[in-house]
Amino acid sequence: MRIGVLTAGGDCPGLNAVIRSIVHRAVADRGDEVIGFEDGFKGLLDGRYRPLDINSVSGILARGGTILGSARLERDRLRDACANSEELIDRLGLDALIPIGGEGTLTAARMLAETGLPVVGVPKTIDNDISATDRTFGFDTAVGVATEAMDRLKTTAESHQRVMVVEVMGRHAGWIALEAGMAAGAHAICVPERNFEVDDLVKMVEERFARNKKFAIVCVAEGAHPAEGSMPYEKGTIDQYGHERFAGIGNRLAIELEHRLGKEARPVILGHIQRGGTPTAYDRVLATRFGWHAVEAAHRGDFGQMTALRGTEIVMAPLADAVTELKHVPQYRMDETEAVF
Ligand code: F6P
Repeated sequence: MRIGVLTAGGDCPGLNAVIRSIVHRAVADRGDEVIGFEDGFKGLLDGRYRPLDINSVSGILARGGTILGSARLERDRLRDACANSEELIDRLGLDALIPIGGEGTLTAARMLAETGLPVVGVPKTIDNDISATDRTFGFDTAVGVATEAMDRLKTTAESHQRVMVVEVMGRHAGWIALEAGMAAGAHAICVPERNFEVDDLVKMVEERFARNKKFAIVCVAEGAHPAEGSMPYEKGTIDQYGHERFAGIGNRLAIELEHRLGKEARPVILGHIQRGGTPTAYDRVLATRFGWHAVEAAHRGDFGQMTALRGTEIVMAPLADAVTELKHVPQYRMDETEAVF
C-alpha cells in the first residue's frame, strides 16, 4: 500500500509518536510505502511530501511537535479539494490517507472520505474534546504541565497572600481546567460549559482569608465566560478558521477580582507551554497504539473511520460520530470536585 500521513491543526505532544508508529507498522511489518505531507492539508493540496522510512522516524518518539509541520486550512480551500478529490488521489497514487488532527482536521477528513478518498483519521488534541474517544493523546501532557504550574504558583501565592488566576487552554470544553484544577487542588475552576459568577469567586476568596488561608488559585479555561451581568466581558470576534478570538479571560478576571477584593490578584496565562515539549508516557503509548491501529484499519479498508479509545481498547469509530458534537465536561464531573465552579 502507499499511505499518506499528515498532521493538521494545532500541534500536540504525541504527534511524532503516531507518525513513528505508522511508519514502523506499515513499512517494517507490512511492507508498505509511507509518505508524509508537509504542513497539514496544505502539503496535500500542493503535493509537498517526503518519503518516511524507518530512519526518518528514528528518535522522535519522545519529541514534541510534529516533524511534518502543521497548519490550519480555510474551509473554502478544502471544499475545492473535495471537488477534485479523485484527481488528487490519482495524482498522488494513494491507497490510504491518515490525517492526524482535532475537530477541524477530522471534519476535513470526513469531507474527503465522503467524496470517496480512502481516509482513516487519528484524533488528537490537548483539549480532549473529541467525541467517540474516551481520550485524545496530548491531554495527559497538558494536564501535567498545568498541574505542575499550579503547584508552583501555590507556594508563591501563599508567600505573597495573592490570588492567582491561572488561564489554561480549552476553547469549548473545560477538561484541562477540570483535571489540572482537581489535581492541583485549585480553589475554583471555571469552564466553558458553565458560566461562572464572579460573586462566588469573591466569596470563596474572602472565606479563605477569614480562615487564615490567605491565598487562592483560580483555574480558568480560556473559553470560560462570566455569567450575564457578572462582570463586563464581551465575546471575541471570529477568525478565518471559524474560531473565536478570546478576549483574555485570565487577565480580565484577575483585574476584576483585585478590584472587588482589594487584594492582589495576578493572571498567569499558560498558553502554548501546555502544548510544547515531550509527551508523557501515557500519551506516547496512546499515540503509538493509535498509529498501529490506523495502519491496520487502512489494510482492512475501514475508511471514513478514526481510531478511538474505549475503556482500555482501541476501536474504530465513524468520523461522523467524532465531529457531530464536541465532548463537553458533564455535570457529574463538576459535582465530583470540591472547587467552586
Ligand atoms: O485546539 C487546541 C488548542 O490548543 C486550543 O486549546 C487553543 O485554543 C488553540 O489550540 C490555540 O491555537 P493556536 O495554536 O492556533 O493559537
